[in-house]
Amino acid sequence: MTKVAFIGLGVMGYPMAGHLKAGGHDVTVYNRTTAKAEAWVEQHGGAMATTPRAAVEGAEIVFSCVGNDDDLRSVTLGDDGIFAGLASGAIYVDNTTASANVARELYAAGKEKGIACIDAPVSGGQAGAENGQLTVMCGGDQAAFDKAAPVADCYAKAVTLMGAPGAGQLTKMVNQICIAGLVQGLSEGMNFGMRAGLDMEKVLAVIGKGAAQSWQMDNRGSTMCKGEFEFGFAVDWMRKDLSICFEEAKNNGARLPATALIDQFYAQVQARGGKRWDTSSLMHLLAND
Ligand SMILES: NC(=O)c1ccc[n+]([C@@H]2O[C@H](COP(=O)([O-])OP(=O)(O)OC[C@H]3O[C@@H](n4cnc5c(N)ncnc54)[C@H](OP(=O)(O)O)[C@@H]3O)[C@@H](O)[C@H]2O)c1
Repeated sequence: MTKVAFIGLGVMGYPMAGHLKAGGHDVTVYNRTTAKAEAWVEQHGGAMATTPRAAVEGAEIVFSCVGNDDDLRSVTLGDDGIFAGLASGAIYVDNTTASANVARELYAAGKEKGIACIDAPVSGGQAGAENGQLTVMCGGDQAAFDKAAPVADCYAKAVTLMGAPGAGQLTKMVNQICIAGLVQGLSEGMNFGMRAGLDMEKVLAVIGKGAAQSWQMDNRGSTMCKGEFEFGFAVDWMRKDLSICFEEAKNNGARLPATALIDQFYAQVQARGGKRWDTSSLMHLLAND
């Protein structure tokens, strides 16, 4: 049993922290909106605190899953932050999707205090978090990873060290770039098939066994054809992630012409009121024009 803390009980963090508790660990949680932390303790047991600093006191491993770079700085740095309460020798694993720069910044700030930081964004969505089946891509030091990975296994089907600090976030960027292009291609295919009058369930059953198969096709193809988007991974989050990719591409010289175009399509979805719609809502632009 490891003494752990979890900071940020959102759509992802709430069930992830639950899997840590179910895995037998001693879990203390913190959430900015206290009611969610109270609900979590009611459901899972464990303890809660009213600041990140208080939550992490005595913890061997701390996990967080908040929104973006600024949120991350606000829960880590400052008088009430994670770094103010965490002892030297502890490990900090951040599951937020954020920039590689903030991952490197926190790694350096942690190192000064003897805290090993691992950037560990996840893929697998709300369902992956609820089922404890996330894919976790990590950046950081091998020794800290070796201690943290078996604990993170509670909410994951795979936990992999990708390289130096920031490498987890860079891997997640690759993931998001691939998804953007894939969802646009899938939307165009589904829309084409519908306009051609095909039975789309039959189409999906057939081409889903061939070279066009993808997670998006298996899990989103059918709902896209029905125009159902009120679930899943929000367009707002996707645009946040793509903006991180564009910023990083300025540093490494990668060209992202199709991704940039699709980002603008997502801006159109937002303008139609789809900020919280699933990313498969690119289909809405084609099916409703
Ligand atoms: N949802 C997905 O399918 C998915 C999949 C993969 C990765 N992600 C990534 O995982 C992260 C979390 O996503 P989510 O869907 O769980 O988001 P969410 O439901 O909006 O939860 C965000 C959490 O962060 C907390 N938070 C935000 N800003 C904060 C701040 N400044 N100080 C303290 N706490 C703060 C929120 O507290 P309150 O409760 O007080 O608002 C909440 O607990 C994001 O980086 C997202 O891109 C999400």
